[in-house]
Amino acid sequence: MSGLYFGGDYNPDQWPENLWAQDFALMRKASVNLVTVGVFSWSRLQPAPDHLDFGWLDRVLDGLHTAGVGVCLATPTASPPPWFTRLHPDALPVTRQGVRLSHGSRDAYCINAPAYRQASVRIAAELADRYREHPALRLWHVHNEYGTSCFCAHCEHAFRNWLRERHGDLDALNDAWSTAFWSQRYGRWDEILPPRATQYRSNPAQELDYRRFLSDSMVRHFREQRNVLAGQAPVTTNFVLGDWVPVDHASFAREVDLVAVDHYPSTVDAAQAERAFAADRARGWARAAGHPDGHWLLMEHAPGAIQADGVVQSLPKGSIAEAAETYLARGAVGIMYFQWRASRGGAEQWHPAMIPHEGPDSPVFDEVTRLGAALSTRTPVVVDAEVALIYDEQTMWAWQGDHLPTRHLNYEGLAVRWHAALTAVHRTVDVVPPGADLRHYRLVVAPALFLMSAATHAWLRSCTADIVLTAACGAVDEHARVTPGSLDDLIGARVITRRWLPPSESVALADGRTAGLCFETLQPTTARVLITTADGSPAVIRNRRVTYTAAPDLVELVT
Ligand code: GLA
Ligand code: ZN
Repeated sequence: MSGLYFGGDYNPDQWPENLWAQDFALMRKASVNLVTVGVFSWSRLQPAPDHLDFGWLDRVLDGLHTAGVGVCLATPTASPPPWFTRLHPDALPVTRQGVRLSHGSRDAYCINAPAYRQASVRIAAELADRYREHPALRLWHVHNEYGTSCFCAHCEHAFRNWLRERHGDLDALNDAWSTAFWSQRYGRWDEILPPRATQYRSNPAQELDYRRFLSDSMVRHFREQRNVLAGQAPVTTNFVLGDWVPVDHASFAREVDLVAVDHYPSTVDAAQAERAFAADRARGWARAAGHPDGHWLLMEHAPGAIQADGVVQSLPKGSIAEAAETYLARGAVGIMYFQWRASRGGAEQWHPAMIPHEGPDSPVFDEVTRLGAALSTRTPVVVDAEVALIYDEQTMWAWQGDHLPTRHLNYEGLAVRWHAALTAVHRTVDVVPPGADLRHYRLVVAPALFLMSAATHAWLRSCTADIVLTAACGAVDEHARVTPGSLDDLIGARVITRRWLPPSESVALADGRTAGLCFETLQPTTARVLITTADGSPAVIRNRRVTYTAAPDLVELVT
């Protein structure tokens, strides 16, 4: 498709069939050309283990096609039906505390439970067989928002196999996990467990490997479905962004045909900055995964409202278009919402929708309709960026945990600040993960890139652009082991001390700025000092093409 996608999640199975014709007519009115169907339809598609019911979905897809609306067809695996849970109680997720969760919400599955994996592939294959040639089909939408953690016995076994592959032998694992500390040395593979609830602080290396393992488990679940769906229509899944998500989206992005993200800003005041950051991340994942145009799809967001501070807050008139423009200017190939029609019942009945409870004769639908018309003649933008901001989800994980020297460094919040400052000066900035091809950038900025593997170190050293690094970069390796001096050669200085600052404390610079979070005492070897503190110690140094800041939040530096 050469134009833009416009639409949202459409859940006709949650409404009486006699409303569908009205939906199709209203979609035409709003210039909707793509709807996501079937995300939570498993119990309708397969009401019993040996009973499939696709008749209703045939009528939905045919009706949409006749109305000129394309379909992003979802596999329903994010919400197994009650019969599945009854037959396979072992496939319910288990929390870190050992509590087996119940059916009654959604995402009631363990990604590593064999019965769940088989049932997922089966329902995906049935959908593929029936609809792969359907003329309305534009895109396959696997699952929904991969991110459910589990700590059950299935995961335990799968984790051990994953660890064997990653570490080879127990000596290597013991070394990587620093198990000499607190007598954690493992003598047999079957002694190793998921990082379940512990008496006191858990092992940070075990936590990191577990997130990587869950991420790989989800990728494997995706691949199994992609293999049966792949054909004419591209295959994707909708990424959910958040610090709780155990998914490394930079690697997941290499598995999808089109990067798609859901985005729900967490604040009203900073919503535009959050949107810009999320959009530039999505484009960065697409580019790093080998799609030079950097195109991506906004699969979901809330039209005209933001849930923040415990309130669904309506946004002023014009906000729907304003939000859409922010994503489109950053390479989105479509603007999609959750959801088409506001639910009357269920757990998300108060969630904003394109058609609110009040019906189509309402300001929100009016705004949606105007936007649809305005977008119908436009095409996606290819964004040209000379500046890259490095954002690493594994580093974001590493900045979590109660073992850290500060709990005040919010990695994503800091990255958003750097991003806002960089975009104010350089207009467009790609937000890319470590390992991305940096040849096209003039400037590469990596704030607080705490966790750096040997591969990341080598990658940074091979970069020929100007680089900005900050305090706390490269402080630990990929197993959360402290690596003092790991960047000394690159920054042309020794880090003598690193002082972690409480929120009430800052360090005054000679030029009147202040630095917070942490401050490093630097002893230059080959670097020049560009800026000092009020009492004369180096605050910003430069070593050939590498600039280094003694605190992670000297954001104004870029202006
Ligand atoms: C997510 C989900 C949707 C819905 C929205 C509500 O993005 O994918 O099913 O729950 O959140 O915000
Ligand atoms: Zn599990």
